[in-house]
Amino acid sequence: MVIGKCRLCNNSIKPFIDFGKMPIANAFYFKKDYNKQYYFDMKVASCSRCYCFQLVNIPDPKLMFHENYAYFASTSKFMQIHWRKLSDKIKKKFKDNKHNTIIEIGSNDGIFLKNFSNIKKWTAIGVEPSKNVAKFSKFQGVKNVIVDFFNYELTNKIISKFKSKADVVISTNTMHHIENTNSVFKGVKNILNMKGIFITEDPSLFEMIKKNTYDQIYAEHMYIWSAISLDIISKKHGLFLYDLENNTVHGGCTRYYFCHRGHFKRTKRCNNFITKEKKLGLDKAVTYKKFREKIINHSNKIYKIVYDLSNKGKKICGYTAPAKSTTLINFSRLNANLIDKVFDNTKAKIGKNYPGKNKIPVKSSEDFRKEKCDYVILFAWNHKKEILKKERSFTKKKSIKWIIPMPKIKIFK
Ligand code: TMP
Ligand code: ZN
Repeated sequence: MVIGKCRLCNNSIKPFIDFGKMPIANAFYFKKDYNKQYYFDMKVASCSRCYCFQLVNIPDPKLMFHENYAYFASTSKFMQIHWRKLSDKIKKKFKDNKHNTIIEIGSNDGIFLKNFSNIKKWTAIGVEPSKNVAKFSKFQGVKNVIVDFFNYELTNKIISKFKSKADVVISTNTMHHIENTNSVFKGVKNILNMKGIFITEDPSLFEMIKKNTYDQIYAEHMYIWSAISLDIISKKHGLFLYDLENNTVHGGCTRYYFCHRGHFKRTKRCNNFITKEKKLGLDKAVTYKKFREKIINHSNKIYKIVYDLSNKGKKICGYTAPAKSTTLINFSRLNANLIDKVFDNTKAKIGKNYPGKNKIPVKSSEDFRKEKCDYVILFAWNHKKEILKKERSFTKKKSIKWIIPMPKIKIFK
């Protein structure tokens, strides 16, 4: 098997799984552009030195984050509430300061920073490389958005432009998207005030391995972070992981808190979680060998379920087209012969096709009510509560059954 280099510590890495040729997960395309699709070899490795879980090869970031980026975080009400709660927490923590600056790395459509706009004592600065989502954040009241990739060089520009460092640097579901993590930590070290904090929240490696939710792995998710590896990386840059919290968002995320080295003591819950990660074997090669077997078993199982139903003449559709389902669909050999269409509420996806060779079309969520199907696969299984609340009375009435693909396959009416 090909050996690569760890993007964090330059150690040699050996992939434990090869997903084969994969498209960019958010690259929904118009039918006419089928042959123009970009593919890369999706191989995954865990570094034996810094334990960074990473894709061995990634597409050029400019191919992933651009003016047609298809992910608008504000499509979920649940996520809007989730980030509002975090912003309330931050405001409370910094309430005694006369003025605060908050910088968000990957501010997307402003879903988080809008909570700080129009508040005099807060200066909110977003950094977002995808022009279209960055533009939308202005409509949400976020005035300062820098359309660029966050890195060390950019922090120097921000310091000179705003004549200020940051009290809070935050990244909400972004750290796993950024190729040069070393430059991000170096930049945060540079721009963070002495008493400042750096918060990141991403899908948790612990949860992914425990629940076998491998659909989290795709081009844009070039890393899946663990406390073990973030602890090592942050120390290298003079920062310190002092606290963390776990939540159930996106199937299980961890929120990490960093400070300048020596500023805060590490909390008990943070130490306990690192111990739990070690118990699960996140720092051992054998864990990933087992993970590979579980991925292949799950993928074969979902294919067989869909294939058998389709063979019996059942019509199967999908509900929601999240980026992560690009991995599940393509790796599990699901295609337009098996899945008729998928319904989603994102304008940038509607009327296009699913990335890859599957040719599954994406239609608007409104069209779902006009459709007669027997089964519907809920690809954004992480939004199950919000979606079932909205659609279940309709599907019950029409005797449409739900297939939940992850974390455990479930079928019910
Ligand atoms: P996410 O799991 O990465 O947040 O992506 C969720 C996808 O599901 C996104 O394409 C928007 C879509 N969606 C709907 O179509 N309807 C809904 O009710 C929700 C919550 C999401
Ligand atoms: Zn490494």
